[in-house]
Amino acid sequence: MKIKKVFIETYGCQMNFSDSEIVASIMSKNGYQNITNVEEADVIFLNTCSIRDKAEQKIRKRLQALQSVKKKKPGVVIGLLGCMAERLKTQLLEEEQVLDIIAGPDAYRDLPRLLEEVESGHKAINIILSADETYADITPVRPGNKGVSAFISIMRGCTNYCAYCIVPYVRGKERSRDIDSIVHEATGLFKNGYREVTLLGQNVNSYKWSNYVETINFTRLLNRIAEIDPLLRVRFATSHPKDISNELLHTIAAYQNICRSIHLPVQSGSNKILKLMNRGYTREHYMERIEAIHRIIPDCTISTDIITGFCDETESDHQKTLSLMEWAAFDYAYMFKYSERPNTMAAVKYLDNIPVGIKERRLNEVIEIQQQLSFQSNKRDLHKTFEVLVEGASKRSSLQYAGRTSQNKVVVFPKQDHQPGNYINARISNFTSATLIGEVVE
Ligand code: 5AD
Ligand code: SF4
Repeated sequence: MKIKKVFIETYGCQMNFSDSEIVASIMSKNGYQNITNVEEADVIFLNTCSIRDKAEQKIRKRLQALQSVKKKKPGVVIGLLGCMAERLKTQLLEEEQVLDIIAGPDAYRDLPRLLEEVESGHKAINIILSADETYADITPVRPGNKGVSAFISIMRGCTNYCAYCIVPYVRGKERSRDIDSIVHEATGLFKNGYREVTLLGQNVNSYKWSNYVETINFTRLLNRIAEIDPLLRVRFATSHPKDISNELLHTIAAYQNICRSIHLPVQSGSNKILKLMNRGYTREHYMERIEAIHRIIPDCTISTDIITGFCDETESDHQKTLSLMEWAAFDYAYMFKYSERPNTMAAVKYLDNIPVGIKERRLNEVIEIQQQLSFQSNKRDLHKTFEVLVEGASKRSSLQYAGRTSQNKVVVFPKQDHQPGNYINARISNFTSATLIGEVVE
């Protein structure tokens, strides 16, 4: 029988990319071949995102384009996986005739069966969310299979219920993965030449795994991963400001291979808005946590997420966000205008009452400040020397190599006889707001 070829297209966050590697693993165990050329595919999976309306619109456009692919090749099976599948369920099968399969984030083990159902002439759907699925026993199939840096999912779902956020509804309850399976996966990656792992979860600070003897928290997990080898760098995302503890900060400080870079989404600088968002902390608490990071890990960079134009946000609330950004001097930020998501707490309880023009103007102001802050952050690195993990050829020139500092900044430097996965020391001789330019030193 001809081996069926599967192409997976991923949208959204790193967690989703990680999920696509789990899907690839399930498919290959079930006799399918994962391919990178969509033209040859017998099965096309879109692993989708619902975080903002814009994300969904992009996927709707892609589905339209796939109609002509299906016309040319009627046998091709098209499946929509992930967060958008979970949000829209059967409605998608009615609206998007091109789809054969709908599978939510906890239904990936069921994909081979869903494909069989399609073969027998039916459309197939599984959007059941699970309380305990973590795919712990599935070793992800990573593209290329010979990389430097890999992502490891350590937990799934989220139970924080930030008022704006769709995640708890599309990814289900928060649950942590068995620590031994995580350590095993990271050790295997190191043996295969990987030199960096990023531990992923919606709120890694609330990682919690119990065996018969003890309960393990995120700090203990981080400890175990850092102990695998000093040459294995460890990163993690995302930290929640309400839960980031001094114990964690001291652990980072104690290991040179735990990276000096923390992603700590603030969302807004106004206490009124933070309360409406149900974030569980105040501006003052957030500032205290930043001070603790600087005190305990002086060379740590801090990045954040910001939303502009949330319900009832006044000019004065917006100014508070701008002033907090200046105070914190964020090294990097992901910035968004608020997009109402159906059935979230904000959609049910509040009015989406900030006109889009104002949301956009505030977003532009936030972006402008961040550009200056990122530039200043890179300027502070001028003439300093950093250990850089070599990732490969730079995007711009094959004569240049690119890598990252522990602080998660990209450094570009002239190529010598280094290999991806090597560590070098780079002295920063120039910079732009996006990149550091370095020279290799002993
Ligand atoms: N509108 C705009 N941005 C959002 N985010 C999450 N939900 C929304 C929404 N409804 C942003 C938050 C979060 C990041 C992943 O996406 O800043 O931290
Ligand atoms: Fe990731 Fe959230 Fe998008 Fe789902 S909705 S893919 S969890 S960003």
